[in-house]
Order: sequence, then C-alpha cells, then structure tokens
Amino acid sequence: MKIFKNLFGLVMLMFLFTACEYNFIVPENIPVIDPTDPNAQQVSFVTDIAPIFNNGNNCTSCHKTGGQTPNLTTGQAYNSLNSVRYINAATPEDSKIYTVPNPSGSHTKKYTAAQAALVLGWISQGAKNN
Ligand code: HEC
Repeated sequence: MKIFKNLFGLVMLMFLFTACEYNFIVPENIPVIDPTDPNAQQVSFVTDIAPIFNNGNNCTSCHKTGGQTPNLTTGQAYNSLNSVRYINAATPEDSKIYTVPNPSGSHTKKYTAAQAALVLGWISQGAKNN
C-alpha cells in the first residue's frame, strides 16, 4: 500500500508542477544587423522597408492617407516616419516604428522576425531615405 501512497504523492507533485507551468510567449529570435560591421547588409528604405508596409496592404490597409497615422503608403512613408516620434536615433530599439509592430508586441499587425531585423537595421544605419 505504501508504494501506492508514494506513487500518488509523486503524481500529485507532478500535477502541481505542470499545473503551475506558465507558457511564456517567447519573442521570436530577431537577427541583428550590426551597424558597426562594414560587411553587414545595407538596408534600403525603398527596396527593403517600404515593401514591408505596402506589400499586400500589410500596414497600409490602415496606415494610409486619411487613415491611421503614421501614413505608411509608399511615397509618404519616409516623411511620416522621419520624426523623433517614430525614430530614436540614439537608441534605435526604442523607436516606435520598431517597438509597436514588434513580433513580441501586441499590435494588430506585427513584423516577422526578419522584417523587424530590417527595420532595426535601417534605423541603426541612420534611417536614411535610401
Ligand atoms: C487593422 C489596422 C492596422 C494595421 C493593419 C496596422 N496598424 Fe498600426 N495602428 C493601428 C491603430 C488603430 C493604431 C493606433 C492605436 C494603437 O497604437 O494601437 C496603430 C498604431 C501604430 C503605430 C503607433 C502610432 C503612433 O503615432 O503612436 C505604429 C508605429 C504602427 N501602428 C505601425 C504599424 C505597422 C508598421 C504596421 C504593419 C506591420 C501596422 N501598424 C499595421 C492600426 C493598424
């Protein structure tokens, strides 16, 4: 009988641990484009960033002329983002255009890890209109 008691205890213990298990929402692993690395990919606003917003109306279904700010439609996106509201040159990872749609955030539409890396890379390389 003692074996059953021990077994029961063990099962309850396992239950206790599994019941208390919390599934953390693990942020996607965002690759880093190092701005100090001369061989790092040079991110272009026109060819890398604007399409993230525009392709398939990913962001521009809401962030468009007369819609939600910032206006992310191609042609408007750079001017809309060229502001301390969206870009923190000193601490690129604090930039709103990076943090709000971050994969670990709660925005209606989020970047993929690869897109987030491009946006952060673009900001850390000076957020140029290139
Ligand atoms: C379904 C509509 C919708 C889509 C799609 C959408 N957004 Fe938004 N976005 C909003 C709304 C509404 C707000 C304002 C409320 C909030 O902050 O959630 C907002 C706010 C923001 C802000 C902060 C604005 C500010 O001035 O503080 C940023 C940055 C942003 N969105 C970026 C994006 C990007 C980048 C995408 C595409 C990956 C995107 N959004 C897709 C609706 C949308």
